[in-house]
Amino acid sequence: MQLRRLLVSIVLVVIALMLGLALGPGSAESMYTVESEPATPVVESTRVGTPTQVKRNATSWGYAADRNAARLEVIEPWLRSALSQVCRTRPHQLTGIDFGADQGYFSVELAKLLRSVDHCDAHVVGAAQVFAVEKGGPGGTLWSKTTNATSILVSKLQSLLPADVEGYLCPTEVDRATFTTVAPQCQPSVQFVLSMLHWVRLVDGVPGLCQAVCGMIRAAAVTVLELPHPRARRTYGESRYRGWYRYESNLTKLLEGCVVKFCPRCSTVTWIGQTPWGKGLFRELFALSNPCWLAPTEQGSTAACLRGLLGCRKIARTV
Ligand SMILES: C[S@@+](CC[C@H](N)C(=O)[O-])C[C@H]1O[C@@H](n2cnc3c(N)ncnc32)[C@H](O)[C@@H]1O
Repeated sequence: MQLRRLLVSIVLVVIALMLGLALGPGSAESMYTVESEPATPVVESTRVGTPTQVKRNATSWGYAADRNAARLEVIEPWLRSALSQVCRTRPHQLTGIDFGADQGYFSVELAKLLRSVDHCDAHVVGAAQVFAVEKGGPGGTLWSKTTNATSILVSKLQSLLPADVEGYLCPTEVDRATFTTVAPQCQPSVQFVLSMLHWVRLVDGVPGLCQAVCGMIRAAAVTVLELPHPRARRTYGESRYRGWYRYESNLTKLLEGCVVKFCPRCSTVTWIGQTPWGKGLFRELFALSNPCWLAPTEQGSTAACLRGLLGCRKIARTV
């Protein structure tokens, strides 16, 4: 009996040590100074939309076309209200990056949203700008089967972006440094990282995930991050998200852990909802917000920065 208790204690100590190694401050080759004062994440939970209802929208296109409307329904009201709060205190030219834009459904919807945010009037602060970042190639063609997604993306941006919003194509393969270094230099107002982080090179294990998450929080006022369900199988990039969820399959707790241990103060994680994704599964949507975010003071500075660092080029409208 005594021996059994001893063995159980040893096993518990080993598990605790392993968890400590995986999540402890020393494990992330962190680029961030962990502030002496502990981070104070605010973890909010806002259930927007209903995960069981998918409105099929004839105007959806691109990856997961039948689910895009439901995803937008979760994101849009939350983001509009969050950005108008940012603009109330920091009126500035609104800029949005859509990472892994695929055929551009969310880039176009983001553009529509940015032109009508309260307190950031384009006549005063300058026209809103949207940057669609897409590596193209096998990823893109996977969804469209025959055509490279980038050519569809360009034609959608040319014809569907609102006339008063500037659209940019950034034909680049991003990696972890794009989130930790590049985007924070360019200060976009908002970032979409929808269903793509598990594709990105070097975002490995909990340390890689936390570095990317802290970078997103530093870069933008708001980042909308969509992650795969821990039970999702046979999804592209599966080995990467298996590494993220190895010790924590509650995604809110996982992101909260990143924020508390590694991110600067002024970091907020908000679970904004979930949408169905295959049988009995769903994808979870989070907003990563930075209430201390410093809006660029010069019009056009984000575009100039992204042009230089991600090769973004302006798309001329054809319609
Ligand atoms: C699963 S789809 C998601 C598309 C869109 N964000 C959505 O949620 O509907 C992932 C997209 O990201 C692109 N992608 C994957 N890895 C990328 C990378 N490292 N850099 C840029 N684009 C990438 C793929 O080509 C693909 O179009």
